Amino acid sequence: MVEIPYPLATERLLLRRFTTADLDAYYEYQRLPETARYLYGDARSYAQCMARIARYVEEPFDEPGHWATFAVELHGQPGLIGEMALKWNEGGKPEGPQPQRFGEIGWTMAPAAQGKGYATEAARAVLELALDQLDFYRVEARLDARNAASAGICERLGMQREGVLRNNMYLKGEWTSEAVYAVVRSA
Ligand SMILES: CC(C)(COP(=O)(O)OP(=O)(O)OC[C@H]1O[C@@H](n2cnc3c(N)ncnc32)[C@H](O)[C@@H]1OP(=O)(O)O)[C@@H](O)C(=O)NCCC(=O)NCCS
Repeated sequence: MVEIPYPLATERLLLRRFTTADLDAYYEYQRLPETARYLYGDARSYAQCMARIARYVEEPFDEPGHWATFAVELHGQPGLIGEMALKWNEGGKPEGPQPQRFGEIGWTMAPAAQGKGYATEAARAVLELALDQLDFYRVEARLDARNAASAGICERLGMQREGVLRNNMYLKGEWTSEAVYAVVRSA
């Protein structure tokens, strides 16, 4: 059993568990084609958002394959401005008293909350949680290589660009390449 210590606080943000009250604000940015532009899926319908929120409000984080999802809000302004996610991937070192985990991080912000450094600030908190408290030894980010805003976050976080998988994804009617960034904790 791994306990995610919700909420995480940064200088400007609170990263908390999702609640059902987040649904409308979540839909407001998830319904937009520009949000989905470089994501694997399409813009989401209201029903798809309902299903996602229903999952997020009580998702467990007990074994590989599980996700921890964080609703991002501004201090003193209850609401939802975006989300962070940490996936516990298959792999790592399963035996011994201190299993070492391997994971993946992702982010999406509402348009009005972009261009202010909030995504980097929130992602830094999730990355530090994974590396310093949850015993992750490697956290990676996988993104469409054209997604400069997302690559900027990785670079500001000090993640290393490990490579580009050329034309390995068919996204929204075209082949595109996937960039892989990662941070690896020293042993
Ligand atoms: C990816 C995404 C989260 C990036 O959001 P973002 O707001 O650009 O990222 P940051 O929070 O790091 O903000 C950086 C910008 O804020 C600016 N900024 C303003 N005030 C700042 C501050 N106090 N601190 C840091 N940066 C600040 C930076 O200069 C930078 O601007 P620039 O892009 O013009 O250089 C956003 O584009 C998004 O949600 N996209 C859709 C979903 C998606 O593609 N997700 C990624 C899938 S891999």
